[in-house]
Amino acid sequence: MTRIEAIIRPETFEAVLEALQDIGVIAMTVDEVHGCGHQAGHVETYRGRETQIKLLPKVRITTVVHEVPVDDVIAAISKAAYTGEHGDGKIFIMPLLDAVRIRTGERGGDAV
Ligand SMILES: Nc1ncnc2c1ncn2[C@@H]1O[C@H](COP(=O)(O)OP(=O)(O)OP(=O)(O)O)[C@@H](O)[C@H]1O
Ligand SMILES: [Mg+2]
Repeated sequence: MTRIEAIIRPETFEAVLEALQDIGVIAMTVDEVHGCGHQAGHVETYRGRETQIKLLPKVRITTVVHEVPVDDVIAAISKAAYTGEHGDGKIFIMPLLDAVRIRTGERGGDAV
């Protein structure tokens, strides 16, 4: 089981969502967040405008996968979220210890 957290531009969210659904990633948690990468305090293009705002709005998608290959998820997100400009986002990949489906009590991969 792998937990994948992608922090992307809000404007690429719809494309990323569709790309994930296309490879069978349906279950996810989505947050509207604010963050900065390595251009904190510098000019970054946001929605086509150069801005000095330090924390920029981003969308965070968290999904835990068991059967879908992690590399497929990374490839799908990377392709759909890419513009080539600073701020396209980042993907963090973490091993997940366990999961519980509350309704049934299933554990581990069966619960994902
Ligand atoms: N090391 C980090 N730890 C936690 N969150 C991060 C980290 N790096 C990036 N993020 C999150 O991802 C968002 C997008 O990061 P961003 O794409 O700007 O990374 P970057 O390293 O500055 O790369 P680039 O040079 O392409 O802009 C940030 O706004 C922040 O929310
Ligand atoms: Mg950056």
